[in-house]
Amino acid sequence: MKVGILGGGQLGRMLLQAAANYVVETYVLENDPHCPAAHLCTHFKKGDIRDYDTVYSFGKGLDAITIEIESVNIEALEKLASEGVQVYPSPAAIRIIKNKVTQKEFYRDNEIPTSEFVITENIAALEVHTHLYPAVHKIGEGGYDGKGVQILENQTDYSKGFDALAVLERKVKIKKEISMIVAMNRSGDMVIYPPAEMVVDPVLNLLDYQLSPAILPEKITWKAEAIAMKLVKKLNSPGLFAVELFIDEKDEVLVNETAPRVHNSGHHTIEANYCSQYDMLWRIIMDYPMGNTDPILPSAIVNIVGAEGFAGKAVYAGLEEVLKIDNVFVHLYGKNETKPGRKMGHVTILHKDYQDLTHKANKIKHLLRVIS
Ligand SMILES: Nc1ncnc2c1ncn2[C@@H]1O[C@H](COP(=O)(O)OP(=O)(O)OP(=O)(O)O)[C@@H](O)[C@H]1O
Ligand SMILES: [Mg+2]
Repeated sequence: MKVGILGGGQLGRMLLQAAANYVVETYVLENDPHCPAAHLCTHFKKGDIRDYDTVYSFGKGLDAITIEIESVNIEALEKLASEGVQVYPSPAAIRIIKNKVTQKEFYRDNEIPTSEFVITENIAALEVHTHLYPAVHKIGEGGYDGKGVQILENQTDYSKGFDALAVLERKVKIKKEISMIVAMNRSGDMVIYPPAEMVVDPVLNLLDYQLSPAILPEKITWKAEAIAMKLVKKLNSPGLFAVELFIDEKDEVLVNETAPRVHNSGHHTIEANYCSQYDMLWRIIMDYPMGNTDPILPSAIVNIVGAEGFAGKAVYAGLEEVLKIDNVFVHLYGKNETKPGRKMGHVTILHKDYQDLTHKANKIKHLLRVIS
């Protein structure tokens, strides 16, 4: 099979690592020839994943195509799909999710619980919707890693918002943030991974560390599973999806957002679950039986991000100390340049005991620093 991936970041890289176990010829389209995925694919094509002609000519002649980022040219994918190329997920599902405005409308139209919201077209609109404050303002398209998200405590904060098509939503009193990964094959069969729970850094707004399976009352897990599976069913697309959810102070479960692809909240599945999210996506693309999502052991993920005050050629201080710790798996994404907050890698820790996971996660956060 010839399979293309749009985007060449770390998600593409880990997808390619899993592809090496199968008979598949891989193609990557990405502008940067030094990107994390460039050296692991069979064929690298330099080009813009947002450009119609580039994506169309990349996909023509392939059996299947998938994405590792949503900011792709959907019209070209639609054309390819109409000509018989399998697209995972469907272009229609990417279209809904790509823009936070259409994504929220999709939740509302399908009665999928999500925080109350209005759509705003410009900054002036932020003064109007007084009942939603404290609120969160999210740009429709173009935001990533928390950069398209602004917390507005009250109306006087409105100038911090986006002067573009965006979503203004009520700020949820979050008790826990979890993520559920759901996969669906071409016959519509679904599997779901146990929830992962995250602790978020309030300053950088980047994932701090993650535990999986999340520690939740059974009833909340069931509710979250039902919501995540309904959501994927309504998207009506084969592929792999990560559904981010909030559990609020009243134990309500609300969908925050969905990613129609392999996701950072599923990195641990490489070592911690029988079938990783990456392996699962290949099974779906190749129309093989889906794998077992059960955990082998509980796990934690620590993201390795560029330290404040350093930019330039990356140096991994403390790496040897981290590698000495038992049941620790280091993944460096092969990015040459570091800058503050840049995702450079992650570490997965396995242990049956959650206290051990938390202890080691904190230890690794302090030991391992990306400097220059
Ligand atoms: N309605 C909300 N109420 C409270 N907190 C929120 C709300 N929406 C978002 N947040 C917080 O902001 C974070 C980032 O929001 P969101 O996931 O929508 O943005 P993003 O740009 O897609 O980020 P990422 O790429 O990190 O997932 C969330 O993980 C959550 O901690
Ligand atoms: Mg998010």
